Amino acid sequence: MEVPYLFISLILIASYLFTSHFRRRSANLPPTIFPSLPIIGHLYLIKPPLYRTLAKISAKYGPILQLQLGFRRVLVVSSPSAAEECFTKNDIVFANRPKMLFGKIIGVNYTSLAWSPYGDNWRNLRRIASIEILSIHRLNEFHDMRVDETRLLIRKLMTACSSPVTVKFMFYELTLNVMMRMISGKRYFGGDNPELEEEGKRFRDMLDETFVLAGASNVGDYLPVLSWLGTLRMYPAGPLLVPHEASSDCVVGGYNIPRGTMLIVNQWAIHHDPKVWDEPERFKPERFEGLEGTRDGFKLLPFGSGRRSCPGEGLAIRMVGMTLGSIIQCFNWERMSEEMVDMTEGHGLTMPKAIPLLAKCKPRLEMKNLLSGL
Ligand code: HEM
Repeated sequence: MEVPYLFISLILIASYLFTSHFRRRSANLPPTIFPSLPIIGHLYLIKPPLYRTLAKISAKYGPILQLQLGFRRVLVVSSPSAAEECFTKNDIVFANRPKMLFGKIIGVNYTSLAWSPYGDNWRNLRRIASIEILSIHRLNEFHDMRVDETRLLIRKLMTACSSPVTVKFMFYELTLNVMMRMISGKRYFGGDNPELEEEGKRFRDMLDETFVLAGASNVGDYLPVLSWLGTLRMYPAGPLLVPHEASSDCVVGGYNIPRGTMLIVNQWAIHHDPKVWDEPERFKPERFEGLEGTRDGFKLLPFGSGRRSCPGEGLAIRMVGMTLGSIIQCFNWERMSEEMVDMTEGHGLTMPKAIPLLAKCKPRLEMKNLLSGL
């Protein structure tokens, strides 16, 4: 490049950075990272897994941070107080979802409950799900069915005694049976219908794929010119709440948040923050005793919060409690070998283990008589 052109380009870039810096300051926008490159913005910073990268950046720049990911302005929130502000004072503002490729393909062109924009369609679906299927009243009505399914699982484990159990599949079959019995009255697994069982396995593979894709963000979601790349995976989103979008201007932590900003709440960062939890990396399940989700200062957000929070929370809490309690009380569990379980995180919305857990179980002596009567 000739010297005058180089000189002019440098002046143009410098003046662009200078004016955008002062425009930001006068607009009182949240802190951001320098530089934000033309067109790609901060996409150059993004490495998998996203929740760890964002947690590192937030530890340095603060819990309320604005990034420019391609054409999207993104607000990254990683403290309980900022999350609280988004889901209480600004709950309606952030009740929208950004339009992303996944919601178009899997969310049937943004018409499914999880991906629908905030509006009449969402309200209608949410009402049907919360009242007709997942209300406390309906959950109580289905109590005996859940006990029945858990009992069938225990019976199956007794026959599988000491042979390896893929724990993920075991929970999957139980969950799908419970959900299908609630919705359609039929069960997929463990019956005497091999065709249904086959259908259930196909559904399981589809769901697995869906969760991996749901956890993935696509380059085209940020740079539309690259949307021809289809569902090319840029990074697994992992334990970030499903993205929200501001439908009007609002204020978070004193900063102005313009309409259209995408909100990412990094609950992984909150759950691993030593300022929030004592020794967060240590296995201390007793730390959760007495905690009731968002009622404890937004420290624990497994189901999100506000109007887009998980409508399945009641069912999930009941199922996790009963299933874990039953399999721990009824069986002794062992690893497959002396080697410690590999806890490496895999890809996907639910942060599954990279290597699914295989384990052996034996009925506890004191439970044997009780279990033989099941
Ligand atoms: C342990 C189990 C579960 C966990 C940890 C969980 C977690 C979550 C989270 C974090 C969200 C996003 C919240 C947000 O956008 O801020 C969500 C949304 C949702 N969950 Fe769950 N969930 C679980 C089980 C279930 C079950 C059993 C159902 C249904 C039977 C369900 C149905 C949904 C739906 C439909 C949404 C989207 C809600 C909306 O956009 O209005 N979930 N869940």
